[in-house]
Amino acid sequence: MDHNSFVNSLTFKNVNESDVERAFQLELEGFPPEEAFTIERYRYIQSVAPDLFLGAYSSDSSSTSFSKLLLIGTIMSTLADAPKFTKESMSSHNPFGKTVCIHTVCVDKQYRGRGIALCMLKEYIKRLKNETQNKDADGKYERVALICHEYLIPLYQKAGFTSMGESEIIYGRLFICFFIFIVAMLNCNSYL
Ligand SMILES: CC(C)(COP(=O)(O)OP(=O)(O)OC[C@H]1O[C@@H](n2cnc3c(N)ncnc32)[C@H](O)[C@@H]1OP(=O)(O)O)[C@@H](O)C(=O)NCCC(=O)NCCS
Repeated sequence: MDHNSFVNSLTFKNVNESDVERAFQLELEGFPPEEAFTIERYRYIQSVAPDLFLGAYSSDSSSTSFSKLLLIGTIMSTLADAPKFTKESMSSHNPFGKTVCIHTVCVDKQYRGRGIALCMLKEYIKRLKNETQNKDADGKYERVALICHEYLIPLYQKAGFTSMGESEIIYGRLFICFFIFIVAMLNCNSYL
């Protein structure tokens, strides 16, 4: 199957409790131990913000049994009330917050380089926009923010994010990188 057909065959749905361990495996595979979240953190975020925990599932027969979908990519976030992406906003979840703080974008090593992260990000943003445009939601989300290593800025730009410059904060997982950038979208005006 070519990359496009494979990506188009993916199923996107929120990660439920039973898939948290698998999501955590991807985290351990994607980040060195000193940068990775703990399983407790994963369980906590899934329990408080399940709608913001998106999974990409493959039914690729070479990697899983006939009927079972395999989780091969995740995006995990919490909400913050401050427009700024701070260390505090990274460590707590405010259910009334309007800033979606993306903590993790992760793809199974075996499936990287096929456009899955980009497709997941677009799907994620589409879902957030749909919820925000829903009349009953009262402008649910105002912005989406994340910090990333400089070399990954093109990934997020391709998904529609804008680079807002170097981050003031040094967050655990990015502690060792030279530059930390904030990217944000939807409404960047009040961001910096
Ligand atoms: C970063 C990561 C999510 C990318 O997943 P992926 O599915 O391989 O990415 P995609 O195939 O969708 O890449 C789309 C674009 O992003 C950019 N990109 C992706 N990975 C990149 C990398 N390692 N270095 C530089 N650019 C990269 C490229 O511009 C790419 O476009 P191209 O293939 O036309 O060159 C994946 O490598 C991963 O899980 N890494 C470990 C965890 C991590 O670092 N997450 C990001 C920080 S939270």
